[in-house]
Amino acid sequence: MEIKIREIAPTRVQTALLAVPVNDKGLDGNLAKRLDRQLKGRLGALVKKSGFTAKRGSSLLLATHGAIPAGHVLLVGLGKQDEVAPHAWRVAGAVAAKEAGRIWVDEAVFMLSPDQQTDVVVGAVAEGALLGVYRFSKYRSNGHKRGTLGTLVLGRTASRGSAALTRAVRQAKLSASAVCLARDLVNEPASIATATYLSEQAVVHCRGEGLKVEVWGKRKIQQMKLAGLLAVNQGSREDPRFIRIRYKPKGKARRKVALIGKGITFDSGGLSLKPPRSMETMKLDMAGGAAVIAVMSVLPKLAPDVEVVGLVPATDNLPDGGAQKPGDVIRYLNGKTVEVVNTDAEGRLVLADALILAAREKPDCMINLATLTGACIVALGNELAGLFSNDGGLAQSLTACGQDAGENLWQLPLATEYREEIKSPIADIKNVGSGSAGAITAALFLQEFVSDVPWAHLDIAGPAFANKDHITCPKGGTGFGVRTLLNFLSGTGE
Ligand code: BES
Ligand code: MN
Ligand code: ZN
Repeated sequence: MEIKIREIAPTRVQTALLAVPVNDKGLDGNLAKRLDRQLKGRLGALVKKSGFTAKRGSSLLLATHGAIPAGHVLLVGLGKQDEVAPHAWRVAGAVAAKEAGRIWVDEAVFMLSPDQQTDVVVGAVAEGALLGVYRFSKYRSNGHKRGTLGTLVLGRTASRGSAALTRAVRQAKLSASAVCLARDLVNEPASIATATYLSEQAVVHCRGEGLKVEVWGKRKIQQMKLAGLLAVNQGSREDPRFIRIRYKPKGKARRKVALIGKGITFDSGGLSLKPPRSMETMKLDMAGGAAVIAVMSVLPKLAPDVEVVGLVPATDNLPDGGAQKPGDVIRYLNGKTVEVVNTDAEGRLVLADALILAAREKPDCMINLATLTGACIVALGNELAGLFSNDGGLAQSLTACGQDAGENLWQLPLATEYREEIKSPIADIKNVGSGSAGAITAALFLQEFVSDVPWAHLDIAGPAFANKDHITCPKGGTGFGVRTLLNFLSGTGE
């Protein structure tokens, strides 16, 4: 989809669909009123008859039958006037683009009033439109159920400040393309999306100035003694991969950030096998890794003045004759030993390797994303991610970046009370707690490997995969975390 900004006279513009955003108080706003007059009161009458109240995510379509040059008018609900946040604009952009597709129009205008012509609004509408029309359709053989909007024109009334708006559209396109890449990687079935595939995709998508991808195969992983990744990979026919992506800005880097993503391409649980229902969506278990690859892929074009290292340990977790067994002990690169009590707690085992390597880089901070625990879904559901951090400032700034992105993070405690849960009778620690608070004990396990680097762990088990359609994302991989990280790296959240 193309997105343009153009000066538009709404009552005179020739377009198939004219979208007009309205809040609960704006139904009798300036533009809506003018349009209603020209439409001989039909717009107002339809609003009344349909009970349209401009709720967020709602819309109302009216064919103009030649009363104005625009073929249809679409009122797009923003919700309550005092609650209109960036995310309401994202939703509005998605609603307009999807409605346009539903009635098979090729071009639509999304009209903005003068006070709405800001970079925040323009960026959010563009981003929402691009995210809303995302589909994973490569395996569908039946035809299209709806059209795809070719061009969305953001209509403005004057041409001042246009450089900032153009920049906002450009950034929205970049962030949406990263989110859609992450969604594609998650939605791809696990028999295709192996560790090797993931590393090839990283090579394909992470090109450009300042960006380098390094892929370690099994031999190199053995040489580097990534014991956790090797242990989890033991039960698989597929080779593991350790993906390292590095971005260096042109000028001097203001700081250095390490991003680590869990890359379990399928989680059967291993010998601690999951029941069938719990396995159905376990291709999602590389969503953290997908987010990291996707973020890295747009850095050359976003060009933040931050050095970024992205690390993704990738393997599936399967139970063949060579599989690691409950009771096995792993000896890590930093000397720590771990008793593997449950082979289904595999994410933390492969993340431990990556966190050790990341900490050795002495970054200013490191952030890991992982679909780590079902317990986090029990606590926060599918709409929020759990956030754990050993650094208050980092936690705060990530939360703020998440809020701007429409990705909600909720901080949970690294409660030392539960430290004893992961004590082992034969090794330094074990990989599962013995009781409740599973999201916390998993985070405490990870903390064992971060040294004293400021670190944050995002448990995205819930929001990484949508079990139902959302306005800005269909069922399946969501790309959660990508936009939070992009906000964080471009420095909004400091
Ligand atoms: N990948 C799962 C966590 C998960 C569950 C993600 C549901 C998304 C949806 C993880 O590897 C896992 O199996 N965790 C176990 C940990 C347990 C064995 C301590 C869990 O949550 O049951
Ligand atoms: Mn598991
Ligand atoms: Zn897992």
